[in-house]
Formats: sequence, structure tokens, C-alpha cells
Amino acid sequence: MRPLVATIDLAAIRHNYAVAKRCAPGRQAFAVVKANAYGHGVREVVGALFELADGFAVACLEEAVEVRALHGDARILLLEGCFEAAEYQLAAQLGLDLVLQGEQQAADFLAAKLSRPLKVWLKLDSGMHRLGFSAPALRAWHGRLQGAMQVAELNLISHFACADERGHELTEQQLEAFLDVLDLDFAQRSLANSAAILTIPAAHMDWLRPGIMLYGATPFAELGAAELGLVPAMTLTAQLIACRDVAVGESVGYGASWRAARPSRIGTVSCGYADGYPRHAPSGTPLLVRGQRVALAGRVSMDMLTVDLTDLPDAQVGDEVQLWGTQLPVDEVAQAAGTLGYELLSKVTQRVPRRYLGAC
Ligand SMILES: Cc1ncc(COP(=O)(O)O)c(C=O)c1O
Repeated sequence: MRPLVATIDLAAIRHNYAVAKRCAPGRQAFAVVKANAYGHGVREVVGALFELADGFAVACLEEAVEVRALHGDARILLLEGCFEAAEYQLAAQLGLDLVLQGEQQAADFLAAKLSRPLKVWLKLDSGMHRLGFSAPALRAWHGRLQGAMQVAELNLISHFACADERGHELTEQQLEAFLDVLDLDFAQRSLANSAAILTIPAAHMDWLRPGIMLYGATPFAELGAAELGLVPAMTLTAQLIACRDVAVGESVGYGASWRAARPSRIGTVSCGYADGYPRHAPSGTPLLVRGQRVALAGRVSMDMLTVDLTDLPDAQVGDEVQLWGTQLPVDEVAQAAGTLGYELLSKVTQRVPRRYLGAC
């Protein structure tokens, strides 16, 4: 069997959900489980949070169908709303919490004949300019939706663009824009993603939407997950499958991009970009062999990558290699590769078997 596995600690996810809730006592929280729970496996994550989570949030109806099959009565928030008019019937059958983020969606929704009224989240474009209504349009739609037979509850939602950059002026503006429409009658309000849950109490409102923090990674460049009290959920582990000595001046890997500046020992690891390890990670990106830090050497291949073991002379074929996880924060690998923990976690591919710890 190929020695590569993603070990998912479900107890860590429960712990991280509790951290989010502790940041905002008395508020409720939709656990964001879109994109296969950021790569961790939606079935297992929903199972782990079954009793604990107040609700779940997903990106599309297909994901909502999956979560509803796993949890018969949880609140499930459809973050981008429906993509076609025909979807509203199914959204009603599933009893979803539905975002309305634009004119067409809102018009289609009001034209739909539904088997039951839905909880609706009217989305304000508070400054990110990706989805949502301007404040005047939101006021107009509020008037049309209030009392409509399709609406069981009328709520307000918006999303931050820069909450991960502490003190960013746009965050202040977005919060003000949100507060500005609170003279309208909304049953519930939701604004905070992980970064805002952790650092902006004024944005907590009624419902939190923790995503990345559930999985034990940080949304911040300058504040690590451990400092935030988060526990990494995914550990990606491979093995050394070959070792060799390389003379000064010899190259390693595709493109011969890495050359030995000293007599070197090179290890080959059973993980590559087809497993989700970032192909663009440069030489020097950290990995752990026998719990010791070593550096990526040369280009990442589809199924393998190579590391410099020169300073770890005892390393040998069969040794465990941690790509990221409990001993090496995914955020550190992401930073070295010029990306985010979000991307690395959600891109671990199907061919990497998941092994679960801490099931309830
Ligand atoms: C609308 C919305 N809310 C909440 C989240 C969760 O964000 P985070 O993973 O930063 O906590 C996302 C994630 O992209 C989102 O799109």
C-alpha cells in the first residue's frame, strides 16, 4: 500500500468549534463544511459535530443534499443561495436556510411555489463586492420579502474581505455598513468568519460562521493557530521511499532546479502534487523526517518529492515524513509556498486515504 495518509482528528474539530463558541458566549454558530469540510471529509465532520453544532454552512445545493442526508434536522445555510430557479423547490424540501444575494435570485425566489416557507438570509454587499445587495437595494428587497408567503424568517448576512488583516480600514467600513441597515427588522444577523470570531467581538452578532479555525489553521499571517488555542485537525504523513548520495554539482529532480552545493543525501518522499502538495512549493519548504525539520529540494513531482537529508544522517528508507499537521503547522508550509492553509487543506485529493481519530 502506498505510504501516504491524511489522519483527521475529529476531537480537534470539536475542540476548535468549542473555541469559536467560547469567543462569543450566547451566540450560535454554523460550522462551515463546504468543499468536503475543507478537505477533511464532510460525512465524518458532520458526524463529529452532530450534537454540538447549531448548524452547518455549505456552498451549493449539492453539498446541502449531502449534509441533510447526514443530519435530518440541523439548520443548513446555503451560502451562495440557489443558482437556478428550479432549485428553490428542493431547497424548500430540504428545509434550508437560504441566502439571497442578488436581484435574479430574489425575484426567482418570490416567484417560486414552495412546499414550505424558508428562513431567508438577505445578503448585504458591505464592501467586498463579490455577492450581495447595495444598502438601498437591500432596503427595497426587505420590504418585498417581509410578509411574503415564501419567507419563514428574514435575516441579515454579510462577509468580510480583510478581517484576517488586523486593523484593516475596510473591516471597519464593512462593520459600519452592516450596522447601518440594522434599523430594518431582522430576526437574526450573521457577519463573522473565523478571523472576525477571533478578533472582532463587535462583529459577532447572532450567528458565527467559523470555517478555517474548525480545522485548526489560522486565518492570520502573523498569528499562529497554536497561539489562538486551535488544534490542527489534519496531519498528512508519507514515508521515505528512497535515499541516495549526491555529489557536489549534481542536480535533483525535474528541470534540474536544485544542485548540490556540498556532498548531499537526498530522500524521496511518497507524496506529490497529484495528492495536493503544492507543485509551486520552492526548495527550502519545511517537512519533518523523524520529527526533524528538513528542506524540500528541487521540484515537486506528481507522486513524489525530494528532501535534503544531509543534516539528518540517520534517516533511512521507511522513515515517516510529515508534510504538515500536528508537528508542522499547515500555515507554515502554505506561507513557504506562497498560499494559504485553506488551499492546501481543501486540495488534498481523493486518492489520499483519510484515517479518522476521535470519532464520537
Ligand atoms: C460567506 C462565508 N462565510 C464564512 C466563511 C468561513 O470563512 P473562514 O474559513 O475564513 O472562517 C466563508 C468561507 O469562505 C464564506 O464564504
